[in-house]
Amino acid sequence: MYRTHTCGDLRKSDAGRQVVLSGWVQRSRDFGGMTFVDLRDRYGITQLVFNMETDPGLCEKARKLGREFVIRASGRVTERSSKNPRILTGDIEILVEDMEVLNASRVPPFTIEENTDGGDDLRMKYRYLDIRRPPVKDHLILRHRMAQEVRKYLDGQGFIEIETPVLIKSTPEGARDFVVPSRMNRGEFYALPQSPQTFKQLLMVAGMDKYFQIVKCFRDEDLRADRQPEFTQIDCEMSFVEREDVLNTFEGLAGHLFQAILGIQVPAPFPRLSYQETMEKYGTDKPDLRFGMEIHDLSVVARGKGFQVIDGAEYSGGICAPGAAGYSRKLLDELTEFVKRPQIGGRGLIWVKFETDGNIRSSVDKFYTAEDLRKWGECCGARSGDLLLVMSGETQATRYALGELRLEMGDRLSLRDKNRFIPLWVVDFPLLEWDEETGRFYAMHHPFTSPRLEDIDLFESDPAKVRANAYDLVINGVEIGGGSIRIHDERLQKTMFKNLGFSEEAAREQFGFLMQAFRYGAPPHGGIAFGFDRWVALFGGSESIRDFIAFPKNTAGRDVMINTPAPLPGEQLKELGIRVIK
Ligand code: AMO
Repeated sequence: MYRTHTCGDLRKSDAGRQVVLSGWVQRSRDFGGMTFVDLRDRYGITQLVFNMETDPGLCEKARKLGREFVIRASGRVTERSSKNPRILTGDIEILVEDMEVLNASRVPPFTIEENTDGGDDLRMKYRYLDIRRPPVKDHLILRHRMAQEVRKYLDGQGFIEIETPVLIKSTPEGARDFVVPSRMNRGEFYALPQSPQTFKQLLMVAGMDKYFQIVKCFRDEDLRADRQPEFTQIDCEMSFVEREDVLNTFEGLAGHLFQAILGIQVPAPFPRLSYQETMEKYGTDKPDLRFGMEIHDLSVVARGKGFQVIDGAEYSGGICAPGAAGYSRKLLDELTEFVKRPQIGGRGLIWVKFETDGNIRSSVDKFYTAEDLRKWGECCGARSGDLLLVMSGETQATRYALGELRLEMGDRLSLRDKNRFIPLWVVDFPLLEWDEETGRFYAMHHPFTSPRLEDIDLFESDPAKVRANAYDLVINGVEIGGGSIRIHDERLQKTMFKNLGFSEEAAREQFGFLMQAFRYGAPPHGGIAFGFDRWVALFGGSESIRDFIAFPKNTAGRDVMINTPAPLPGEQLKELGIRVIK
């Protein structure tokens, strides 16, 4: 028998029991007469004691144990004299009577403890060792628990989990596809799904009514902390629903997860903000509502005093950082440098301090009187002690930069508490997005998203103004999920393809199967997909999804452990009918 208990099981009440444990040697300490070994498994750590007096031979053997050796030990549980309150088994230890090395280990390339000395690359190369570390292991357990709760909740709501194919067809919309060559059909390729979108719609036509799937999706796009080339969605679709039905259902799912996983009750309904409003107030479509500091439009109030930066700009706006009027020159310079970073794109930063003694000081004193600046302050709700930060330029770009500055100030002023969660729905996205480079519209969400029906006439006059019946779930500034009510009418779908610049032939070629299906009684339907990795990371208190995925890719899209992507042998390429151009 390898074990009677795990390394996390035993308590004071077990004292006197004969037990067998198996696990990894976390560390061993030798005190001459006694050798202590911390034995680890997934469940915890238990202290083993080897006594020179009672069994010198066994103690000698224990002294030779190296880190990460796999052993089996049997002995008696006793209460410890010096307890360790940091571990659950800290009240007891095992007086070992017999021990066997099940497998030796090489010295691991980094320490396998809470905090490791291993850099990212090393940890990824030896990911199986990294997963032995409690933080990574706990993330995977959190992920498992969330997946179980998702299934439990959706099953309870009548959703059915259905698998959809992984070898599908490449489509021109969205991100780039990963493609797979077909040996049996030379010169032809499958694509890996960016999402099961069309399949879940077909399942609605098929009458399945409520579908979900925890499913791998693949997108060949540039990676960031919250993006992986293969990631997991909680993908959902429902029939005979309007927007509110979908939002209510998934507020229920979110509420259940908050309660079951974090023990937090979040008030429902979640706030709903239109895309337009969130862009104006927060400069982003994924606002962090844990703090205020909204963007205020100063274009009108600030114009006409001869300051070219503002007079010549399409838009000027400001955010009011509470209690930051004491910011030093150095800190203000840092903020100016921050907004000038290429990824933020600001040209400069104007500051106004509403000092506690009633004085107003600013970087634009030359152009504006205290009275002028007081008006700015009124516009932004500035109070005594606040710091107003103002930027000017093209409307969208300036709002974006102010939005980034708002997050930066939120961090600096500790307003983004990891333990608070504020979910909201962003609704009424534009249906179409104009792309300057290709000179055509793209679907902001995807081509199957229904327009708001009251906006349909705008297709003719002003397509950019057509609003989508789409929604995103945003929590603490993270886009957790997005979905829409779909087009279920063949004619409307044709109009959509036309506006996206598809010829009838191209639409038929790409999406003929869906258009065909719509001819056989497609029910009104809608759905949503959540980024599962992001949701787990959010609950785990991290912005990076990598540590919540057992075997992730690095930022170059490589798996450095199995060393892939990798070239294929010539034979294999030949069989596939493929030649690589160097
Ligand atoms: P969308 O493209 O918005 O919608 O994706 C849904 C959610 O998936 C997450 N996500 C990602 N997570 C990690 N890495 C990535 N590369 C990545 N890309 C997206 C985000 C996002 O909100 N079929 C539609 C959904 C629908 O309409 O029902 C879709 O895929 O959290």
